[in-house]
Amino acid sequence: MSSVRIEPALTTGDLGPVSTSFLELRDLRVHFPTGDGLVKSVDGLSYRLERGKTLGIVGESGSGKSVTSLAIMGLHKNTSARLSGEIWLDGEELITASAEHVRTLRGKKMAMIFQDPLSAMHPFYTVGNQIVEAYRIHHKVTKKAARAHAIDMLARVGIPQPKSRVDDYPHQFSGGMRQRAMIAMALSCDPELLIADEPTTALDVTVQAQILDLIRDLQQEFNSAVIIITHDLGVVAELADDIMVMYAGRSAEYASAEQVFGQPEHPYTWGLLGSMPRLDRDRSERLLPIKGTPPSLINVPLGCPFSPRCNYSGLVGDHACTTDRPEFRDVGGGHRIACHLSAQQRQQVWEDEIRPNL
Ligand SMILES: Nc1ncnc2c1ncn2[C@@H]1O[C@H](COP(=O)(O)OP(=O)(O)OP(=O)(O)O)[C@@H](O)[C@H]1O
Ligand code: SF4
Ligand SMILES: [Mg+2]
Repeated sequence: MSSVRIEPALTTGDLGPVSTSFLELRDLRVHFPTGDGLVKSVDGLSYRLERGKTLGIVGESGSGKSVTSLAIMGLHKNTSARLSGEIWLDGEELITASAEHVRTLRGKKMAMIFQDPLSAMHPFYTVGNQIVEAYRIHHKVTKKAARAHAIDMLARVGIPQPKSRVDDYPHQFSGGMRQRAMIAMALSCDPELLIADEPTTALDVTVQAQILDLIRDLQQEFNSAVIIITHDLGVVAELADDIMVMYAGRSAEYASAEQVFGQPEHPYTWGLLGSMPRLDRDRSERLLPIKGTPPSLINVPLGCPFSPRCNYSGLVGDHACTTDRPEFRDVGGGHRIACHLSAQQRQQVWEDEIRPNL
């Protein structure tokens, strides 16, 4: 049994003022009770996203990127997951909304490209039928027109012979083709919010570029908000307006893409940028992985969760890095970080050690 105190679920009466952003997460927590203790997969995450904008979310495996997205999609409802905080989508709060209501928002209001394509598809219906049914819920069109749309979508994600493949079942597709079919499903209703969770892993470079173009088209045509989750900093550099760097279920850094690539302020982001493959370096020089591993989400270190791996905690007095949780604060112009280093210390490390080696 875990001795950790669990926060009660919010009731409508607990909610603050209605968010005016298209999407806003306020202090989101997603905890999973397990035999080993409470897994704090997401632990106090806040961000905003407006229509027409793209947010890139990066962070190592297990940092809570997918769990956050599943929370927005309402997919932790009716499970043992414990959620608190607020998720506002276009003026509606989704944590307190019923599972039935959130289901009606999936498809047109929000859609997700899942990391695992099989989890998003029904095994007993053809791929075409799944697109047709979803499309017809939100568009008053004939079955024939919806089928033509499904075929068009399969063609646009690069599925050969879409006219015959439309009648195949998910298990008849290879892994890569299934991923494309799932992307076609997610894009088929022109969602106002698209969450793309590692949309291009397992796809070859040409198809990757095609998929990213489709996402860009969706955004331009429908002014959609897009969240793109990836390990590939090249993809976020190309697509994202803003970037959030996650570590151990929290935000380490949040800023515009220019700021994150031009002058990152958090030691973890420095590490991520240092581990980014570079075409202008030879292979041996290319990757400098961050030493150590992320913390257990059952026993997250007191203080800064990155402290066991951070090269700069010694610069902060009173061992604050191991005792005080750094507040996620604005360090100027909307650039936010959770780190105790002073502006002067960050500037000095950046100029002397980090920038020359990137
Ligand atoms: N149902 C669950 N029960 C217990 N722990 C879970 C559950 N779902 C996720 N987790 C844990 O929550 C953490 C965050 O998972 P999540 O899938 O969000 O990571 P991620 O950032 O998407 O990683 P990746 O880059 O590998 O996809 C992981 O440690 C994972 O094991
Ligand atoms: S708060 Fe301390 S341990 Fe955490 S990133 Fe900043 S310097 Fe490193
Ligand atoms: Mg994931």
